[in-house]
Amino acid sequence: MADLINLTIDGVPVAVPKGTVIVDAAKKIGNDIPVFCYHPKLKPVGMCRMCLVEVGTPQIDRNTRQPMLDAEGKPVIAWMPKLQTACTTPVSEGMSVRTNTRQVLEARNDMLEFLLTSHPLDCPVCDKGGECPLQNLTMAHGPGVSRFDYEAKQHNAKHVPLGDLIFLDRERCIQCSRCIRFQDEVADDHVLQFHERGRHMEIVTFSDPPFDSLFGGNTTDICPVGALTTADFHFKARPWELDNTPSVCMHCPAGCNISLNTRLETHTGGHEIKRVMPRQNEHVNEIWICDKGRYVHHFSRAEDRITRPLVRDARGNLSESTWEAALQLAADRMRGRKVGGIIGDRLPNEDAWLFGRMFREVLKSAAVVMSPAIPAAYADIARTYGVGKDTDFKQLGKGDVILLVNGDLEQCAPVWFLRLRQAVVDRGARLVVAHDRPTKMHRYAARIDKYELGRAAHWASEQAKPLAEEFKSARNLLIVFGDEKLSAEGARSLARSLANILVESEHAGKANSGLLPLYPHGNTQGVFDALPSGGAMPERVDVAWLVGVGENNALPQSAFTVVQELFLTELTKQADVVLPALSFAEREGTFTSADRRVQRFYRALPALGQAKPDWWIIQELAQRLGAKWSFQDAGQVFGDLAAQNAQYTGLSYELLSRVESQWPPVGRSDLYYGGTVYDNTGGVGARYAAGAERAGFMAAVEWLTPPEADIEALQHLPRVLYQDGELIRRSKVLAGHIQFNETEIARAAR
Ligand code: SF4
Ligand code: SF4
Ligand code: FES
Repeated sequence: MADLINLTIDGVPVAVPKGTVIVDAAKKIGNDIPVFCYHPKLKPVGMCRMCLVEVGTPQIDRNTRQPMLDAEGKPVIAWMPKLQTACTTPVSEGMSVRTNTRQVLEARNDMLEFLLTSHPLDCPVCDKGGECPLQNLTMAHGPGVSRFDYEAKQHNAKHVPLGDLIFLDRERCIQCSRCIRFQDEVADDHVLQFHERGRHMEIVTFSDPPFDSLFGGNTTDICPVGALTTADFHFKARPWELDNTPSVCMHCPAGCNISLNTRLETHTGGHEIKRVMPRQNEHVNEIWICDKGRYVHHFSRAEDRITRPLVRDARGNLSESTWEAALQLAADRMRGRKVGGIIGDRLPNEDAWLFGRMFREVLKSAAVVMSPAIPAAYADIARTYGVGKDTDFKQLGKGDVILLVNGDLEQCAPVWFLRLRQAVVDRGARLVVAHDRPTKMHRYAARIDKYELGRAAHWASEQAKPLAEEFKSARNLLIVFGDEKLSAEGARSLARSLANILVESEHAGKANSGLLPLYPHGNTQGVFDALPSGGAMPERVDVAWLVGVGENNALPQSAFTVVQELFLTELTKQADVVLPALSFAEREGTFTSADRRVQRFYRALPALGQAKPDWWIIQELAQRLGAKWSFQDAGQVFGDLAAQNAQYTGLSYELLSRVESQWPPVGRSDLYYGGTVYDNTGGVGARYAAGAERAGFMAAVEWLTPPEADIEALQHLPRVLYQDGELIRRSKVLAGHIQFNETEIARAAR
């Protein structure tokens, strides 16, 4: 490979790409040089001096300009007189590094002794205790005793709110600036800074509101001590008490990999999620998650979870029933009648697949739709002209174009915002933004097109041809788009115009090019894929069957309503039969992100009461209506989906759970290096091919004239991360962040 640099570290040869720093080169051969301020996802700053090593380079003969050789014919190494920081020193050809000499070991010892002069002995009560790099490195490299006077320690405030989601313990901070650098370099939210100098230096937030960022929780993961903790986890548990289960976030189209940390609560006798942490997947979220993904989990054990089936009694009240009675009643009312089904786009693939089969094969009707409805108008286009199977956001950079149309990327898919922003700012991709209002991505745009509110589809149909011409010379063309302020027809028209830009600029069906839709939730594509195509809801049905649709939905009129839900919502209160469903944390399944990566999530909590997985409930009803289904678990249902649905051919639970080595290795065992991110033990998932790739065709789609006035769509609120809804309302730490109206949304969107 070109540009590989050869060096030796403690005599062990290693070859790494040009530009690699010594710490990373050493990591490649399993040599863990201790670090505090260095983080492989941030630019090196050399602040803590923990990584000091001896560095030498080949001595060059002044006359011949060639490396000098010793008597044995080996290069003569000129050692630098002082120790060097391994985190800021890039490797060079022939370099020699020593990491285990007396001088190096003494320096580590001294640095730790120095750091501990102003660090409290909090470990027994510190939230980071048990997963703290400072603890671990002190044990490995620190002095057994300190020469400093314990009474001379600095004493600082220990519970400083940095906003309402993060607390700072000033005594514990070792001033590594990882938190500041994450906010500046990765999130581009300049909300933290150092204040004062020397031993009085401290972290402060200067934004209004304080710590104004959607990504603040990540600073608590990468803080190498217990200085930063989340309001959600502060004093809630010790890390070694927690079980760790791989899962997938379903609150936006990105599909971040997460770990659910759970514990049995002795005071309630039940299991709970104590915290949600990132799980490394360099294909998806690297090691980051947004604050919604981190804090919204409380709905999983909300007090108003339904734990038993409910049936409307003779007096008109919903009262507890048995599964047998409730299922029989629902099945009897469906038999031979016109049933209309709506399924929410946060339901896993397995549930949506059986729901679709139920309508196709048992009820023999296409009166089945997804909620929300608008994405179904363009999900087929997004699937056909979507990003190529081997797309890797990390490869986007110079020569590539990212076109962002009609969506606030940071609010709609926060982790994609982080990744695509880096493609533009750090690696030189060209960003073109078209929107009716400013969003954070506007900061990085090479060009901004502004259209009138609700006119995105008109803009695209007018601009498609010149844009296709302009983007022909681009190496790759990624088109990210949202359906904000559009009707179903408007959104379909927009998607078609954008697909045609790909076709006409000759980028359709290629890796690192294609459409990337900003769907509302984490399984919009998967639910769409699983339902029969062309489903439509009549105005009136005999029985409405609503599976995880939440609220605020356009429902058909019906004489009888069957609802599968987690909570007693306004909707469930109107139902005739309520069937309690398990949350994502209490079962297994798969989600398909908007870039068509199918990913597994696993059971982290025991079932609550008598609640059941939705696929099981659907199967029970199908059996009572004559179906001969006998799926024993979600894996078997997925097998059925993969066998019958062309997109999912070849996928299996086994394949989706495959793990691979990732760089940088910042999983759990490496917490000194990258923070408390979890290793990926649950699988990195697999992306299915886009239709254009599969068919190998590049045909244009039929243009669709956008509707002249999308009056109703103009009433919709733009999509934001902290949108009011059933789930976020049940998270106390996030409830105060909900944006209820356009003014709040505009303020948040900046
Ligand atoms: S709060 Fe943590 S991450 Fe931030 S400077 Fe202090 S020790 Fe480093
Ligand atoms: S970016 Fe999206 S998928 Fe990732 S944690 Fe946030 S809401 Fe979840
Ligand atoms: S100076 Fe190298 S890790 Fe801090």
